[in-house]
Amino acid sequence: MVAISLPKTLYFLNVSCHYLIGGTSGIGAETARVLAKRGVRIVMAVRDMKKAEMVKERIVRENPKAEIKLLEIDLSSLSSVARFCSQFLLHDLPLNILINNAGVFSPNLEFSEEKIELTFATNFLGHYLLTEMLIEKMIDTAKKSGIEGRIINLSSVIHSWPKPDCFSFTKLLHPIKYNGTKAYAQSKLATILHAKALSRQLKDRNANVTINAVHPGIVKTGIIRAHKGLLIDSLFLIASKLLKSISQGAATTCYVALSNETKGWSGKYFADCNETNCSDLANDESAADKLWTHSRALIHDYLHQSQIHPLPNLCLL
Ligand SMILES: NC(=O)c1ccc[n+]([C@@H]2O[C@H](COP(=O)([O-])OP(=O)(O)OC[C@H]3O[C@@H](n4cnc5c(N)ncnc54)[C@H](OP(=O)(O)O)[C@@H]3O)[C@@H](O)[C@H]2O)c1
Repeated sequence: MVAISLPKTLYFLNVSCHYLIGGTSGIGAETARVLAKRGVRIVMAVRDMKKAEMVKERIVRENPKAEIKLLEIDLSSLSSVARFCSQFLLHDLPLNILINNAGVFSPNLEFSEEKIELTFATNFLGHYLLTEMLIEKMIDTAKKSGIEGRIINLSSVIHSWPKPDCFSFTKLLHPIKYNGTKAYAQSKLATILHAKALSRQLKDRNANVTINAVHPGIVKTGIIRAHKGLLIDSLFLIASKLLKSISQGAATTCYVALSNETKGWSGKYFADCNETNCSDLANDESAADKLWTHSRALIHDYLHQSQIHPLPNLCLL
């Protein structure tokens, strides 16, 4: 399915402000284009404002009614995420949809501003903090508007590669032996565990907000171009018939974000616009709870040390 040819029965239309991460290229930029076409107001959270301005210009040229706001964020940096959220909350915009889309693949071991392995910091921890800081706003928007809030975490089929004994929080933060593909796969497993843990908590709170994870398919975007090497090149040559276009790659995100059919669905994993099975480890509640507890403790320590005033939900630690 191509993103733009989604069913017309959409849940969200011109109702509120929506929110998108990492929309400057690939799947994120296409998702922004489709959502704008559907009348969704968009906040693009981006690290490269110049690139984002060009994407915005393209979308507005195609659809002059599109409402797009750009705000700066570096998802790999906890301080940047915290700054971004404070700024976003100051605008007091309603928030119905949060798409945790930004992603990197780092072939070499690199560290974030806070000295955390870059792939894990960007693909998981940054989004984790962002979601924590915005969740009350989403719950509140859903309550006031009577419209279900939706969070979508971009995962990958590759989440099934990590083995349980290799999935240790300390090693995720500071790997001893680095392998870029393994780090990427672990970060994508973490995004499903995050969706499952938060989904349970939202249900316990009776909150009208859902969270799901999606695999967009294999799409030749910037992230794939970063996977260099003979093995990966050969795999892509073999798999090239299975490659999706960028538009097809954005379809599952748009479907889960917008369709009536996914109303009430939470804690699920989707691919090809259908719910599908994820790995046993991704379904492991204790692994999800452990990841959640460690991440909260790390974030709490960080916010405390940086003297950033913790938000109410982060005080619950
Ligand atoms: N393509 C695939 O085959 C595939 C398969 C499975 C899952 N995914 C997932 O789909 C999502 C979108 O990826 P894509 O394929 O569209 O790749 P992409 O074209 O490389 O897009 C990644 C986006 O993330 C943004 N980003 C990266 N690091 C960031 C940071 N520190 N702060 C803010 N934004 C940052 C990039 O912004 P810049 O423009 O500033 O770099 C870019 O807009 C990712 O989560 C990826 O893991 C992709």
